[in-house]
Amino acid sequence: MAEFFDLTGQVAIVTGAGRGIGAGIAERLSQAGAKVAILDAVYDAASEVASRLGGFAVSGDIRQEDEVASALAKVEANIGPVSILVNNAGITGRTDLSWNLSVEEYQSVFDVNALGTFLTCRAVVPGMLLRGYGRIVNIASIAGKEGNPTLLPYSASKAAVIAMTKSLGKELAGKGDVTVNAIAPAVIRTTMLDGMAQSTVDYMIGKIPMGRTGKIEEVAALVHYLASREASFTTGQCYDISGGRATY
Ligand SMILES: NC(=O)c1ccc[n+]([C@@H]2O[C@H](COP(=O)([O-])OP(=O)(O)OC[C@H]3O[C@@H](n4cnc5c(N)ncnc54)[C@H](O)[C@@H]3O)[C@@H](O)[C@H]2O)c1
Repeated sequence: MAEFFDLTGQVAIVTGAGRGIGAGIAERLSQAGAKVAILDAVYDAASEVASRLGGFAVSGDIRQEDEVASALAKVEANIGPVSILVNNAGITGRTDLSWNLSVEEYQSVFDVNALGTFLTCRAVVPGMLLRGYGRIVNIASIAGKEGNPTLLPYSASKAAVIAMTKSLGKELAGKGDVTVNAIAPAVIRTTMLDGMAQSTVDYMIGKIPMGRTGKIEEVAALVHYLASREASFTTGQCYDISGGRATY
């Protein structure tokens, strides 16, 4: 019997996969049979994950249009046309009350989380439309639904990712089997937390009814489903993975 959610022969790009959640997603998609491109701004990190998983490492800053285009060209030349894009690269920015933040600090978070997601989607969509198949999974955050204090740019940029998912999902609906969905994790234990104020991390864990952080493997399992052929009648949605924190 065929494996459930089999991805054999498919080509996936996972952005920000040099560590953390992205590396876990890349591992899960590889185990399901996909050829996975590990894209990261830090090439050495991408390379380490790629050699561990037998994937393809590619460097690229998702904020830069030309770097996104050249990374996609490298991936397609080396492992084939992309059928899965996981937009995972993201940054929190400095945790502080919003009136203490500079315009540059605000903008830098939007550049990665919102503009970066737009640029990678824009790069892969024409090929997916041409081939009539594609899965895009955007890693948003519960912060984008609920708004975390001391994380205003992060929360607002993740709300932008959720809205982008809804807009693009509707634009592509009915044009072949191309879907776009997002997920909204609550706090997951990764090195991203190391740069945040402990009070902010404690606040986020305190809001989770299950009383614990999520695991990278739990996030990867949901992404795997949304990246599979079986997830064909859902688009423009945001899936909760928050230990019960989400209220809508
Ligand atoms: N960790 C959490 O609690 C949590 C919760 C909800 C959502 N998320 C989201 O999950 C995603 C991954 O989080 P993580 O905790 O694994 O983060 P992380 O900081 O551990 O890893 C992020 C990776 O993205 C890469 N990256 C950053 N900017 C980039 C750019 N401009 N271009 C290319 N690559 C870039 C980094 O080099 C790094 O390898 C992020 O979008 C984050 O917002 C995380």
